[in-house]
Amino acid sequence: MTGRGLVVAGLTIVAGGLAAAALFVWSGIYNVSASRQHLDVTTWILDTLRRHSVRTHSLGIAAPPLDAPGLVRLGAVHYDLACAACHGAPGRPASALADAMLPTPPPLGPAVREWSPEELSWIVLNGQKYTGMPAWVAPRRGDEVWAVVAFLRRLPQIDAAEYRRLAGLPTQSSTVRAPGIGVATDAEPMAMCRRCHGPSGARTVGPLVPPLAGQPVRYLARALSEYADGTRPSGIMQFAARGLDAAAVGRLARAFAAKASSTPSHEPDPTDPGSRIAHEGIPERGIPPCLTCHSGEADPRFPRLAGFSATYLERQLRLWRDDVRGRSGYAAIMRPIARRLDPGEAASVAAYLARLAPAGAEGGGAP
Ligand code: HEC
Ligand code: HEC
Ligand code: HEC
Repeated sequence: MTGRGLVVAGLTIVAGGLAAAALFVWSGIYNVSASRQHLDVTTWILDTLRRHSVRTHSLGIAAPPLDAPGLVRLGAVHYDLACAACHGAPGRPASALADAMLPTPPPLGPAVREWSPEELSWIVLNGQKYTGMPAWVAPRRGDEVWAVVAFLRRLPQIDAAEYRRLAGLPTQSSTVRAPGIGVATDAEPMAMCRRCHGPSGARTVGPLVPPLAGQPVRYLARALSEYADGTRPSGIMQFAARGLDAAAVGRLARAFAAKASSTPSHEPDPTDPGSRIAHEGIPERGIPPCLTCHSGEADPRFPRLAGFSATYLERQLRLWRDDVRGRSGYAAIMRPIARRLDPGEAASVAAYLARLAPAGAEGGGAP
């Protein structure tokens, strides 16, 4: 055959292949039903594609320490609210709906062993196309995913009793119904909030969860509405606050704010650079004294920072530096201030504020 003949024959085969593929797609012969397993070859292709995709895309991610205080417990409560309905947990069966999904969400105890923490963080942040595995609700809050990863790494070793303890469920096997798929709570939101923010809103499950006791009602209500409508991004709080109506927001804000029993003290310490920033600011760089807005006597629309953990304060300042946190008018007041602080200054002012007597009775983010 001549060179030209070969080209024509090749093109004919390609065109025939494309026509057959188009016919297959348009004919509707392929069964998309979720009640029938894929063909073995389809399963193999999808699974291989998925594994390699996760491996490649998670290159370059570096896990922070996963044994930080409170990380596993925060991850456990969020897992129980957001993931257990699909994946189940020790002593908690998955929803009957999850059993009817294809692919069926796998129990994660065995599955987590084959993924590194970095790969798990990529899966939890990005979800998986065409499987029903959702992405993290707030795509720019990859920092939050590590709590869930820390918990997943513990999952293979824990029994039902330990799971209930970590997830903040009552220790007797009394029935607290598992939330449904995509629903944080059904009847009583306050019980759910307490699992992370503590019974009185002061002693929280860990330093990344802010204490609510003693905060002004107006600030708490605004924060909740901003999570509910996504103005303030957090894959944990957007999930917990979605669906709360204005009446519930007001009731929860009043209930938590009322729990303060002591007034924060703000004694300056002239030898501490963090104290100088909090009380005097850095006027030559346009950084105002933090406590003019953030002490007990200040504006009831602003949060009080005394007794918040240094971890939480630094994290929130970093979110503004990275242009992630909130685009409300209030965030616009704080954003330029946070962006003028360098990381060292942010750390020292956070450490000072964390040492001040907290607004709530029992202290801030305990482990
Ligand atoms: C609506 C149901 C659903 C929810 C909710 C859900 N997942 Fe999944 N998840 C799935 C499905 C389905 C898969 C299987 C994907 C596949 O096989 O390709 C999966 C896969 C995974 C995997 C990979 C498992 C493996 O064997 O490779 C991890 C890890 C995971 N999910 C973690 C989570 C976490 C953590 C949450 C909560 C933040 C969560 N999932 C919420 C449905 C869900
Ligand atoms: C799974 C744990 C968890 C649950 C459940 C939870 N929270 Fe939170 N909450 C957090 C975390 C973590 C943050 C910090 C989020 C961020 O980085 O913006 C937070 C932040 C908040 C804030 C902002 C406080 C501040 O100083 O800016 C409010 C208000 C709040 N939560 C109220 C609630 C209420 C009310 C509920 C119940 C409806 C609730 N939370 C349920 C973990 C939780
Ligand atoms: C002019 C008033 C003002 C000054 C001065 C100010 N802030 Fe703020 N700050 C705010 C407002 C308003 C918010 C609430 C922003 C929002 O809700 O999005 C806030 C929020 C914060 C938060 C988040 C608290 C939480 O509960 O999530 C941190 C952390 C913070 N400020 C730190 C500082 C530090 C550190 C300084 C001093 C360097 C400072 N602020 C100075 C007005 C101020």
